[in-house]
Amino acid sequence: MGNNAPILEVRDLLKTFGAVVAAKDINVDISRGEVVGIIGANGAGKTCFVNMVTGYLAPTEGSIKFEGKELVGLETRKITHSGISRSFQVSQVFHSMTVAENLMISIAIANNTAFDALRLMDTPELRQQLDAVLARYKLEAHRDSTVSALAQGVRKLLDIAMAVVSRPRILLLDEPTSGISVEEKFDFMDIVMDALKEDGVTVLFVEHDMEIVARYVSRVLAFYQGEIIADMPPKKALSDKKVQEFVIGKEHHKRKK
Ligand SMILES: Nc1ncnc2c1ncn2[C@@H]1O[C@H](COP(=O)(O)OP(=O)(O)OP(=O)(O)O)[C@@H](O)[C@H]1O
Ligand SMILES: [Mg+2]
Repeated sequence: MGNNAPILEVRDLLKTFGAVVAAKDINVDISRGEVVGIIGANGAGKTCFVNMVTGYLAPTEGSIKFEGKELVGLETRKITHSGISRSFQVSQVFHSMTVAENLMISIAIANNTAFDALRLMDTPELRQQLDAVLARYKLEAHRDSTVSALAQGVRKLLDIAMAVVSRPRILLLDEPTSGISVEEKFDFMDIVMDALKEDGVTVLFVEHDMEIVARYVSRVLAFYQGEIIADMPPKKALSDKKVQEFVIGKEHHKRKK
């Protein structure tokens, strides 16, 4: 497979829940190194799309190929192992444990040594991985803090750091900036995007904040009622008539998160 082949190829994806159509006619190719912003009002199908790519949800119909290999039908664990990782709309960290302990669990899982995770903290290789990820995500100062004591921005950095220790080639993030203050959001995204770029990770992230979309993505996929209604660069997308009507116009009704 040439290096110019898409890293992700989605064909004729359909997902229905009874009468609800959560995904329909989704056809999209993602190239290596792209940073793709997924936008859409509540219920547009953004999370369902992320869940299908990562194996948390089985499509009703369609195909999703990663580096030429079919993902549909594979277990989540196999998909993660093949090089796709994700974070969730609500952080999935252990709140009573420290930052370092949480990361060590992810590192142990990524190294297939999940059992006895904490004792493995003493091996030099795992410690080195821990130090590297703490440095890359600017978490050193919080190393021994309990997660429940962290600011939301730091907690979300940890969440993403935990998702990248398996060294994914694609990372999907579901609303990385939700719950982060206006003052913190750009610093947070700078850390995340710099780290992912350095590691050459292709990124797809769901985002409600159009300032973040405008600043960090190279391409926008706009969802409306399960369909992609716009696939274009951010500047064009944000001034697109359909996007303004069916995405940005609907944001006024957004629930508090
Ligand atoms: N497990 C499920 N069973 C039934 N319907 C579902 C299920 N999951 C999602 N849906 C429906 O599918 C549609 C798309 O949901 P999805 O969670 O993908 O939206 P979203 O774009 O992520 O919205 P939000 O911005 O609120 O997170 C919605 O109508 C939702 O109610
Ligand atoms: Mg969602």
